[in-house]
Amino acid sequence: MSPTARRPVIALDGPAGAGKSTVARRVAAALGYVLVDTGALYRAVALACARAGVSWDDPDGVGAQAEALVARGAIALVPAPDGLRVELDRADVTREIRSPENSLGASRVSAVPRVRAALLEMQRASLRGGGAVMEGRDIGTVVAPDAEVKLFVTASPEVRARRRHDELVARGERPSYEDTLRDVLARDRADESRAIAPLVPAADAEVLDTSSMSLDEVVDAIVARARAAGG
Ligand code: DC
Repeated sequence: MSPTARRPVIALDGPAGAGKSTVARRVAAALGYVLVDTGALYRAVALACARAGVSWDDPDGVGAQAEALVARGAIALVPAPDGLRVELDRADVTREIRSPENSLGASRVSAVPRVRAALLEMQRASLRGGGAVMEGRDIGTVVAPDAEVKLFVTASPEVRARRRHDELVARGERPSYEDTLRDVLARDRADESRAIAPLVPAADAEVLDTSSMSLDEVVDAIVARARAAGG
């Protein structure tokens, strides 16, 4: 590789529960690449709206809020020893954006075209230097169609429901496995059929079904793709 060649961009898309975030963090650490969790951006917009008293169901309000946040550089993803610290107006909101309530908000605001447009340029700017792992839902299709490595990381609904169920039980909740599976299937249907940025693999993405793979196997497979692409 010549010294001026751009290091690859790795686009990781896929449904929730496929282990994408952990995989993205581990791949970025293994390669020394920048990690960009795009879901965190939508989550930060949702939190900022809640704080400003803007309803998540008010498209103009959340659109204006997202544009203002991006214009003043209010949202930052800062590398941290265990992944990323998410900052909103310089304050650490890493944990707060992951509350169940704010997750709902993130899902609502991510369906607003003005929000997606406002975050698009910010996401692309973070890829300009190359050497990045970007995870989300529309990275290979919309944000970085030219990414050198494009993977759609998924697992069967049953495996994702099992992982989600284990997570909830570990938190002290007692959902039934059947209910968890029903939720996973309902969310898949909603995500795949929504009008804006539906969750579908890019035509040139490789689908990586992790149902029967260990975390190490998934990470190794992606690092190998990056190496083959000059990373
Ligand atoms: O990956 P996550 O759960 O942190 O994402 C939060 C929300 O944002 C989720 O409802 C999906 C949405 N999202 C999106 O629409 N596009 C992305 N590139 C990333 C996330």
